[in-house]
Amino acid sequence: MRVSRPPRGCAEQRRVNGRRLALGFVAIALLGASACSKGAVTITVSTASATPREGDIANGQRIFRENCAACHGTNGTEGGVGPSLRAEHARKNFRRAVAFIENPEPPMPKLYPGTFDRKAVDDVAAYVETL
Ligand code: HEC
Repeated sequence: MRVSRPPRGCAEQRRVNGRRLALGFVAIALLGASACSKGAVTITVSTASATPREGDIANGQRIFRENCAACHGTNGTEGGVGPSLRAEHARKNFRRAVAFIENPEPPMPKLYPGTFDRKAVDDVAAYVETL
């Protein structure tokens, strides 16, 4: 439930809220600080399912070893043809990792749809987020 819209320039906060919602948290965010304080307080209340949409990390690791390790390293942190994915969660949250895996930059192969189904993408993204 969006009580009021934040003014321009609050995209970053909105994205953070979006992530919270994506993770299924009940988020009550009071954006009172910084540039967004000018007359607008956004109260975001999510009643979405409390179950995070993240995937099965153990299965994701198995998928990673088979499909991704050749370029990113056995543990995803060594790198090689692809970059190390250490602390990937700091660069891309779960939703953005899913989006990247679905539509990667060459030479990273596009495995969805086809080799991967929805769950495989979620699972391998969940694993990548733990690195
Ligand atoms: C053929 C080699 C190759 C394979 C296989 C591969 N990748 Fe990549 N990956 C890359 C390269 C190269 C990049 C850097 C692309 C760029 O941003 O220009 C990349 C980037 C990424 C990124 C973004 C890193 C960042 O900078 O934030 C993620 C996440 C990722 N890969 C995950 C995966 C996953 C998960 C798999 C398995 C499903 C996979 N990759 C398979 C080569 C590969």
